[in-house]
Amino acid sequence: MSDPFASSEAASFDAPSFDTPSFDAAAFDSLETELAFADVDPGEGQRWSTWPAITPSERGPEPWPAWVVTSAGALDTERGILKTGKEADVFLLERGVPGDPSQHTLLAAKRYRSAEHRSFHRSSVYTEGRSIRNTRDARALAKKSDHGREVAAAQWSFAEFEALCRMWELGAPVPYPVQVNGTEVLMEFLGDADGTAAPRLAQARGDRTELQGYYAQVVDLMRIFAAAGFAHGDLSAYNLLVHEGRVHVIDLPQIVDIIANPQGLDLLHRDCVNICDWFTRRRVECDAEELFAELLAALY
Ligand SMILES: Nc1ncnc2c1ncn2[C@@H]1O[C@H](COP(=O)(O)OP(=O)(O)OP(=O)(O)O)[C@@H](O)[C@H]1O
Ligand SMILES: [Mg+2]
Repeated sequence: MSDPFASSEAASFDAPSFDTPSFDAAAFDSLETELAFADVDPGEGQRWSTWPAITPSERGPEPWPAWVVTSAGALDTERGILKTGKEADVFLLERGVPGDPSQHTLLAAKRYRSAEHRSFHRSSVYTEGRSIRNTRDARALAKKSDHGREVAAAQWSFAEFEALCRMWELGAPVPYPVQVNGTEVLMEFLGDADGTAAPRLAQARGDRTELQGYYAQVVDLMRIFAAAGFAHGDLSAYNLLVHEGRVHVIDLPQIVDIIANPQGLDLLHRDCVNICDWFTRRRVECDAEELFAELLAALY
């Protein structure tokens, strides 16, 4: 990734600046981290990086990409909202070590809302057969207590994080999952250094040849999912982002085990129909039944 913090215009909080300090930093090399701790407190819209406090299983697959900021001296700074959704809101977050331009990155923070703040509940067809390991959590869920609502929201964030990890490791074009912490998933931000998010396929402009290329990429990623036994389960031109000419798939919490889930085949079929309807309307030749058959052939 190029330096996403070349511009500080997006800064909207009265917070410690990330500009390189004017003193001779080389002379203070060994003291750098201590200085960051000593001189800087999180301002409004900031917190200490949550990375050091989470357990290893809540961090993304290793090896961590070089751009992942792991320093305990890093601050997380809110850079505004990318999109409010039905069950979650997605925010732009800057994670960086003050005074060290080489340790800065932009992240997408997807924060699930607890049930009472949601306008939509994902159908239970997705969760059929899923088990809850912790009995305290299971009881809280059943009672719909405050803790239960938090547990329900966190279940979706963990489900999305796990799905992103699995698909990332299989080489599918998903944003790299940096970490999960309660109801928040932090992932690679797909977009420009100035914080402009990559367009959804639904908004992407392109001639027929370009769209044909996008279709081929969507089939490729669906094949990776299917070969591992999964359907996305909510695939549409809104859950596909076009970043640097490549189609990426997002919004994975509901991915479906095609065989184990009784609705698995139906949901895979629905994904095929959604995608082919969209491309057919844009004069890209494709056939949902052929795609479905091809993906079934790729299963395991
Ligand atoms: N990693 C990312 N990089 C850039 N933008 C992102 C990223 N993840 C999500 N977004 C933006 O946030 C929007 C919502 O993300 P997502 O689909 O995961 O959430 P959602 O709650 O399911 O939203 P919706 O209810 O609209 O489907 C996306 O359409 C995209 O514009
Ligand atoms: Mg979505």
